[in-house]
Amino acid sequence: MILSIESSCDDSAIAITEIATNKLLFHKKISQELEHSVYGGVVPELAARLHAEALPKILEQVKEYFPRLKAVAVTSTPGLAVTLVEGVTMAKAIAIALDIPIIGVNHLIGHIYSLFIEKETQFPLTCLLVSGGHTQVMEVKSLTQIETVAKSMDDSFGESFDKVAKMMGLGYPGGPLIQELAKDGDRLAYNFTVPLHQSPLIAFSYSGLKNAVRLAVQEAGDDKEKYKDIAASFEHIATKHLTMKLKKYFKTVKPNTFAIVGGASANLYLRSQIEELLKPHKAELILSELKYCSDNAAMIGRVAVDMYKNEMFSSVEELDIAPRSGL
Ligand code: KG4
Ligand code: ZN
Repeated sequence: MILSIESSCDDSAIAITEIATNKLLFHKKISQELEHSVYGGVVPELAARLHAEALPKILEQVKEYFPRLKAVAVTSTPGLAVTLVEGVTMAKAIAIALDIPIIGVNHLIGHIYSLFIEKETQFPLTCLLVSGGHTQVMEVKSLTQIETVAKSMDDSFGESFDKVAKMMGLGYPGGPLIQELAKDGDRLAYNFTVPLHQSPLIAFSYSGLKNAVRLAVQEAGDDKEKYKDIAASFEHIATKHLTMKLKKYFKTVKPNTFAIVGGASANLYLRSQIEELLKPHKAELILSELKYCSDNAAMIGRVAVDMYKNEMFSSVEELDIAPRSGL
């Protein structure tokens, strides 16, 4: 079995995964959304303090598995430096105490593997990662052959939802809150410009759209009815930006199996629009279970199973956090 730890942002999570079967024997996550909500975003030092409380509490519940652990895995990159350290320090202590190898997992590969929790892997695939930290398209051939073919030049898709929610004083995380508000709004009420729509680049950008929404929110003042239309129009254009760029990309690279992963892959409007986009290509759409879209340790454990089989271990001395490295 492998014990895996996730603490790259605002979720403290630990999982136990059986190596031979991919079976998830234990998974627990303590989210910090409420604590960060008043600030409209994640406060790193507060997050670190909360991980330091939550992780030992969860670890207490998995002691019975200790004698059967073959390795300990931990998200070591990318993420918030002060929160990554919490998980990595705990993993190192476990590796030393139990004399087992340590596996440093890339959080982005974790999101890809959220598709394969308790399942076999399914490669090759084209994967859209939409989270709070990332918006990128990857061609995934295997665990070690992942090529990023498009990414955001500034804000991420999820982050833009968080920022719009903050402007409206709704709280954090913004994704589910904006999605809920948008349900009763008119998607065509505000004619926001689709980012980079005239550019031949296959890349993403959300800072311009965010500023356009800011002006609309200011103009709406206290008229909360208008917020619904702004939310719906914003969600529509934020999604249209993704589908327009993917459509362009599919002109040269035909999708066969397509996946959407990351916290924002829970967005229902995005899911429906991507489904439409894939129809003419007869491509299969694969998604993670809703509970595994956002950060969790089960996906880290699932990557670790494949890394274990390929003997991709680190030494306790060498394993370090890399807050900014990507894929
Ligand atoms: O993957 P994740 O849990 O954390 C990162 O690795 O960043 O993603 C969290 C992000 C947040 O920005 C949150 O607002 C967004 O995912 N999100 C959504 C939805 N649910 C979560 N964005 C849009 N629509 C949603 N339904
Ligand atoms: Zn994530």
